[in-house]
Amino acid sequence: MSDMTAMSGPLLLVGCGKMGGALLGGWLDQGITADQVVVVEPALDSDRSAVPSGVTVLSDGSEFAAEFAPAVVVFAVKPQVMGDVVPGYSRFKGSAVYLSIAAGTPIRFFEANLGDGAAVVRVMPNTPAAVRQGMSVLCANSHTSEVQHDLCGGLMAAVGDTAWLEDEALMDAVTAVSGSGPAYVFHLIECLAKAAVDVGLEPELAARLALQTVAGSGELARQSDDDAAQLRVNVTSPGGTTHAALEVLMGDGGLQPLMTKAVQAAEKRGKELGA
Ligand SMILES: NC(=O)c1ccc[n+]([C@@H]2O[C@H](COP(=O)([O-])OP(=O)(O)OC[C@H]3O[C@@H](n4cnc5c(N)ncnc54)[C@H](OP(=O)(O)O)[C@@H]3O)[C@@H](O)[C@H]2O)c1
Repeated sequence: MSDMTAMSGPLLLVGCGKMGGALLGGWLDQGITADQVVVVEPALDSDRSAVPSGVTVLSDGSEFAAEFAPAVVVFAVKPQVMGDVVPGYSRFKGSAVYLSIAAGTPIRFFEANLGDGAAVVRVMPNTPAAVRQGMSVLCANSHTSEVQHDLCGGLMAAVGDTAWLEDEALMDAVTAVSGSGPAYVFHLIECLAKAAVDVGLEPELAARLALQTVAGSGELARQSDDDAAQLRVNVTSPGGTTHAALEVLMGDGGLQPLMTKAVQAAEKRGKELGA
């Protein structure tokens, strides 16, 4: 991870809701100090206790001192309000890289709203970022310097794993896998719990078994040198109970065609929303 504490200027976070707040927590944990961060967030006007003390909070983007020159401006507001919000930050183009976490909002949108030469990095994070277990995929425009590239990568690495894409067109595919993916896993937990109830277990125990099985298997898969397919083979004795279940899950109309269909539907919807 790059040394984020050595940023050339402050970090300006625009929007400190669920995702912006999760990122802020990760940055402060990783050594960025509260006095390096300025937050613009109208919702915190009445209750600033949600932001750690020492972080400057402004209620709108017109309150900056003339000499304020952030190294990075992070846009973490809803995509629907980006059009109103982004142009107000174009004055930082000289010093800053703009890092957007907005789903479905292409780099060209920021270039059009910030003007020529703006360094823009688009990232697709996911909700496990809230527990520092996120997956973030980043894509930079040609005005982004190597230092800015490393800074943005380091900021997202504070809340989990990161990967970079050269081709922004693949962001819809990324969104369909890791962006929306946590919901698929939550649904898997629901389905396993429901199936457990159907074979006679109490709902509370069913929910515990399903949750811990998914969480523990994910951690085992992460720590193991074997890939997921090998781990599956390792726990499947021919003719045994797991084998009986996998004949259903891996048979015709099983999980793979269903998952492919689901990811394709999400990717298609992402393209429609971005058009
Ligand atoms: N949550 C996720 O799972 C997730 C995953 C990937 C990407 N993202 C992206 O993250 C971004 C934020 O999503 P979120 O779920 O964190 O939304 P959120 O909880 O609603 O946070 C957005 C925050 O921005 C504030 N805001 C509104 N107008 C503003 C302005 N002019 N200046 C500064 N702040 C302003 C909102 O305040 P008010 O509530 O007062 O309007 C709110 O607190 C979105 O672009 C989304 O696509 C989210």
